[in-house]
Amino acid sequence: MVRELSYNTISEVLDSWEALRRIEDYEEQAGLLLFRRLFDKSPRAKLLFGFPIDLDVHSDTIKNSRRFKAHAMYLIQMIDSSLNMLGPDIELLTEIMHALGEKHARFGVLAEMYSQMGDALIEAMTVLLGEGVMNEKVVEAWHETYGALSGDMIEEHVKYDLGE
Ligand code: HEM
Repeated sequence: MVRELSYNTISEVLDSWEALRRIEDYEEQAGLLLFRRLFDKSPRAKLLFGFPIDLDVHSDTIKNSRRFKAHAMYLIQMIDSSLNMLGPDIELLTEIMHALGEKHARFGVLAEMYSQMGDALIEAMTVLLGEGVMNEKVVEAWHETYGALSGDMIEEHVKYDLGE
């Protein structure tokens, strides 16, 4: 749950996110890496984003797809705004994550896709920032934070699946 995150954990996450934002075109670069990794882990996730299941995410043509770029940036921007709300707005963020979880259940996102997305995100950040910034402590803080955000979303998937 997001409300259980400690101040230290949140600041490790925010510091590394700031480092990422200083990279030119970070949204595109991180987005491309993130989706390549996500689709490697979960080919079915391609369908959810409107791509054919046999799309080769490693081909150069993918880089030129406007649709791909739009989706990639959209997601990175969403994570960005979630991180901005960690801290004083945590109660509001919890409510937003619950509502977002319900929406995702309707989109057809499966609960297991959250950890695949989280791992893809952390791997993408490690490629771009290196292990100096993305050291063990920071990676752990990311797992905890992403796990808390997605945990709130997944709670709604469970309710949705039960028809509540
Ligand atoms: C903590 C994790 C995540 C966050 C913060 C997040 C955030 C968002 C937000 C804010 C939207 C826009 C919702 C709207 O239309 O109002 C969205 C759309 C979407 N998300 Fe997520 N999401 C997360 C995880 C995932 C995962 C794991 C998947 C599936 C692999 C996924 C698939 C989608 C899809 C298919 C859409 C709608 C398609 C689109 O318009 O791009 N999301 N997400």
